Amino acid sequence: MAATVRSFAKINLGLAIGATRPDGFHVLETIYQTVAAHDLITVEAAAGDRIVIRCQDARVPCDATNTCYRMVERALAVLGCRRQVTITIDKRLPVQGGLGAGSSNAVAALFGLERVLGEELTEKDRLRVAAEVGSDVPLFLLGGTVLGVGRGEQVYPLPELPGLACVLVTPNVAVSTPKAFRDWDELVAADGGLTCSRGSATLSEFGLSSFEWLSHLNATGVPAIKGGDRAETPLLDLVRAGIENDFERVVFPQYPELRDVKRMLEREGAGYASLSGSGSTMYGLFASQQLAEQAAAKLTASGLAARATQTLTRQQYGEQRFAG
Ligand code: C5P
Repeated sequence: MAATVRSFAKINLGLAIGATRPDGFHVLETIYQTVAAHDLITVEAAAGDRIVIRCQDARVPCDATNTCYRMVERALAVLGCRRQVTITIDKRLPVQGGLGAGSSNAVAALFGLERVLGEELTEKDRLRVAAEVGSDVPLFLLGGTVLGVGRGEQVYPLPELPGLACVLVTPNVAVSTPKAFRDWDELVAADGGLTCSRGSATLSEFGLSSFEWLSHLNATGVPAIKGGDRAETPLLDLVRAGIENDFERVVFPQYPELRDVKRMLEREGAGYASLSGSGSTMYGLFASQQLAEQAAAKLTASGLAARATQTLTRQQYGEQRFAG
């Protein structure tokens, strides 16, 4: 028995970093958005009692540190089930690229496991084990447009919004997420402010902008205030409402080529361009798929790893999950 699951990527529509918590994690607020670009995760179960990870990409660990391993190990324990579970990862997304690929792989492995076993965890158990595996794992239990708070693991579904074309560009630089958080702390300290007070200000601005945007949406995700192209682009309204990714302030000075990519995306017609997570992937949101394809082709011609994709609603995320 085998199940193949599409493990979709995410981008961050803004990310505000707050204070460091006693456990070393940072309080944050972000809006996650799933996109159609994906890895493929195949899960097989047989008699036995071990977890085997296979991946052709040498950068992906195939031991007990793999996110799929950690997720399946926990899920089997919750279900009280013993099996040999083999997980094959067909890597198409960048590794450590800010697209949440490793986190998404873990949830895809869970969905595949549930299918091959014919058993499901409760919603609460799913959320608990996902949060144990990583801060941006739980969002992939929902998909679509998702508000993330706490350390990013407390997730709330936002209204379904019309999809947007999107270009992903992953420059060939590796950004360490823990280091990016440390650099943020240093930046705040160097600014003469306490992490706590500066963080609170950033968080409250993010909250106000998100609130303003949300209050203009009705229950179906369509802007209540119509005019111009607003009705077609509530996602663009959100990012233009002033939310930003705080990581840009520490990552761009270290990797100026990322700022150049942002400018190139804007020049090619992106309504909004930003770093995703701590990077190094940059994304641009476009008004049409044609514009996105043209921009991706131009960026590829200039030597960058660029691809056109689309944002995925929660419904599409659920419907397109199983590939076989
Ligand atoms: O939760 P996850 O394993 O993805 O986090 C990786 C690292 O990123 C953490 O060990 C921590 O150093 C940092 N982090 C943080 N604050 C968060 C999320 C992650 O400082 N909200």
